[in-house]
Amino acid sequence: MAPFGLLSVGANLLVKSLGLFSSASVVRCSCVAPVLKSFSTTTGGPPKRPLTAYMTYVKEMHPTISRQNPGIKNVDIVRKLAQQWKMLTLEQKQPFQDASSASREQYKLVLEKYKAQLTPAQTAALAVEKRQKVAKRKAIRRKKELNSLGKPKRPRSAFNIFMSEHFEEAKGTNMQTKMKSLRDDWERFNATQKQMYIQLAEDDKVRYKNEIKSWEEHMIEIGREDLVRRKERRAIKAKTTKDIKKKSKVRVLKAKAPKKKTGTAVKKTVESTKK
Ligand SMILES: *[C@@H]1O[C@H](CO)[C@@H](O)[C@H](O)[C@H]1NC(C)=O
Repeated sequence: MAPFGLLSVGANLLVKSLGLFSSASVVRCSCVAPVLKSFSTTTGGPPKRPLTAYMTYVKEMHPTISRQNPGIKNVDIVRKLAQQWKMLTLEQKQPFQDASSASREQYKLVLEKYKAQLTPAQTAALAVEKRQKVAKRKAIRRKKELNSLGKPKRPRSAFNIFMSEHFEEAKGTNMQTKMKSLRDDWERFNATQKQMYIQLAEDDKVRYKNEIKSWEEHMIEIGREDLVRRKERRAIKAKTTKDIKKKSKVRVLKAKAPKKKTGTAVKKTVESTKK
């Protein structure tokens, strides 16, 4: 499941970064040899980052695939091209590598020129922007890593569960209005109407507690203690100390999951509470 998910995320990102959403913007070009484009300097903004060899290939081949498969979605085109790219020999990839190298060289030059004409304030602002971008990228990478390591999903709140169960039929034409009407519904609910969702949320907390416990144990086993919650790390250390020194005052922070009713009986009454 994971590789497919990653592939589709990658395809989406690529569609976005190449601006492939509007088919009108796609250059109509049947040539296979990559075209070297100059960077736009008319906007006054920083030059666009150069395309990688793969991105150059996607941009080149996109119109062809689009023409050969009428009605195909952009994401599917990119997915097709990703598969094709993997099948290419080094020799076949070479022209795209060359184009990418050339545009990277050109990018460096344009970037130097761009930086040289900035005011000190603009330079400072650019540095801040860059730091934020790096932080964002780091956060995304971390999230991806945690996903690939199968980190359990955080427990959902009662409202969250209510929302996902009723999103489809909610009043409203878009995400925002639907959310708003669901939030209003939730506000109007009395304790009895909320009870089922509160129970489900409690169950989800237990689920999370159990899953995160064994996940963290597994992370320690594979040497990724850095991914274990700080509190738990301390608890583990404390436990070890206790085992060695038999300190009586050490409190083990890991509490046993309290016994809970399953809530499946309540789940069945969901239909009756609907309007
Ligand atoms: C809560 O609302 C439901 C549905 O409107 C109603 O049947 C029930 O009597 C209410 N319960 C309380 C405690 O007000």
